Amino acid sequence: MENTGAEHIAVMQKEAIELLQCKPGGIYVDATVGLGGHAQEILGKIQPGGLLIGIDRDKEALEKAQSRLVQVSGGFRLLHDNFKNLPLILNNLAVNPVDGILIDLGVSSYQLLSPERGFSFQSDAMLDMRMDRTQQWTAADLVNSMSESELADIIYRYGEERLSRRIAAAIVHERSRTPITRCTQLADIVSRAYRVRGHQNIHPATKTFQSLRIAVNRELEGLEEFLTEAFGFLKPGARMVVIAFHSLEDRIVKKSFRRLAGQCICDAPPDLCQCPRQVLARLLTSRPMTPSPEELAINPRARSARLRSLERI
Ligand SMILES: C[S@@+](CC[C@H](N)C(=O)[O-])C[C@H]1O[C@@H](n2cnc3c(N)ncnc32)[C@H](O)[C@@H]1O
Repeated sequence: MENTGAEHIAVMQKEAIELLQCKPGGIYVDATVGLGGHAQEILGKIQPGGLLIGIDRDKEALEKAQSRLVQVSGGFRLLHDNFKNLPLILNNLAVNPVDGILIDLGVSSYQLLSPERGFSFQSDAMLDMRMDRTQQWTAADLVNSMSESELADIIYRYGEERLSRRIAAAIVHERSRTPITRCTQLADIVSRAYRVRGHQNIHPATKTFQSLRIAVNRELEGLEEFLTEAFGFLKPGARMVVIAFHSLEDRIVKKSFRRLAGQCICDAPPDLCQCPRQVLARLLTSRPMTPSPEELAINPRARSARLRSLERI
């Protein structure tokens, strides 16, 4: 059965949970708890006596996770916050160290498919795209205020869109006549700028929408620093699992993990490499794991997932 509803099927759940080796009484962090799919599994495995700390910057998702998790156990705390505040969060809870950390990056299907959240080029909603609706800066603010070159850079960098300059020019031209406030309005501007004939696999606005989402939510900023800080909370023998959905995101995870494992992270030839080689972790995935064909048949949205994991030595 294909997933078409505005819910979210946890991606690579079996692989992530096996790698985390959850044990009763342990303390685990789900830094992107979303609708609680992974969290539900973790919570079930850490009782009796375990604690699951679930973080998400989407308040509505947390409410859904709350009603799901109470059915399993009361051994959890959910916090509406940015995972980049993990040190503060754990300090406030007087928790350190932890037995495992899961980070399932990106956006949930629930967010993407809820029309009023303004993530989808198919919805006639306000162009919003905020994961955290208490944040002020929306996608509409971004497209109406950034310079043409800033817009082109964002669309090129985060969307890997080769027509970024043409699309940015079309946005700036359109907004000089009337502000761009709705998803379908932007989707039409991009489609017209695209002017590519014939069959296309994806909607012309897909990459532009993805790039704006990443920019609005500052998804890549500080990710490397966060991964290093989060690693510092792991007990020896404890594990971190990260699932990424974008090549830039996965590159950051790969680099951070290789550095923690004392491996080279530069492009220099081996005899010129000067990377610090302090071995703090063991890589559990030398290459990223990807979803099985069985999972993809049930949930095609998982297709770009890349899972990496390491263990603190
Ligand atoms: C792919 S979904 C996670 C789905 C979840 N594992 C599940 O099983 O339902 C990603 C979630 O991460 C949240 N998120 C993304 N960046 C975040 C950040 N910096 N801090 C906190 N939450 C974040 C999003 O709001 C979204 O709910």
